[in-house]
Amino acid sequence: MKTISFTAARLALTVLLICPTLTSGQELKSIQLLKPQMDGGRPLMQVLQDRSSSREFSTEKLPLQVLSNMLWAAFGVNRQDSGKRTAPSASNRQEIDIYVATADGLYLYDAKAHTLKPVLAEDIRAATGRQPFVQEAPVNLIYVADFSKMGETTAEDKVFYSAANTGFIGQNVYLYCASEGLATVMRGLVDRPALAKVMKLRPDQKVILAQSVGYPKK
Ligand SMILES: Cc1cc2nc3c(=O)[nH]c(=O)nc-3n(C[C@H](O)[C@H](O)[C@H](O)COP(=O)(O)O)c2cc1C
Repeated sequence: MKTISFTAARLALTVLLICPTLTSGQELKSIQLLKPQMDGGRPLMQVLQDRSSSREFSTEKLPLQVLSNMLWAAFGVNRQDSGKRTAPSASNRQEIDIYVATADGLYLYDAKAHTLKPVLAEDIRAATGRQPFVQEAPVNLIYVADFSKMGETTAEDKVFYSAANTGFIGQNVYLYCASEGLATVMRGLVDRPALAKVMKLRPDQKVILAQSVGYPKK
């Protein structure tokens, strides 16, 4: 009897070690994003004329091609040889990760593989901000700084550079949205500790800002 329960316990432990996230993310699949369309987009000066924040979103989902283009524009790899990105980052630390919250679940944008990696099989959109529209926007981007990538930088500078670097990414999203007729708004009104908990972030990962994206409400 004792031997059976010991074996069962060992089996349970093995399963837990192999599948540490059995309760989350197990049904969510990785999404291979589509190659960004490089011939799209309106002239820059017209796009700048149209850039604005909007807070009224349709619940319509973004097509995969649009999501793929938008994430590449945000912070994709635009130089394969060096792995550098569409937005600058101080000392090229590339510490900002883009998490993508949709109705299906939470993903992490892997720029190198141009893939969305599953994080949580839960709709956490409501937790991404303090404003009601965040639950309706089909996509909420969460910009998270991975301080472990920032080396010996002082604590103050980690916060300063992460915020600055996020600004460039956010503006890329604003410009893509203005070009494509999408609605977007950058958001600082975020309960960061609560969101970090929901996202199961490590202590050295910090939520900087969030940004909602979708089609404008008709
Ligand atoms: C860092 C930052 C944080 C912001 N936070 C919020 C926010 O939490 N909620 C919101 O509705 N708008 C937010 N905004 C959008 C601003 O309110 C908006 O940019 C400003 O009113 C100017 O409007 P415009 O973007 O249409 O030019 C934020 C903008 C920035 C740059």
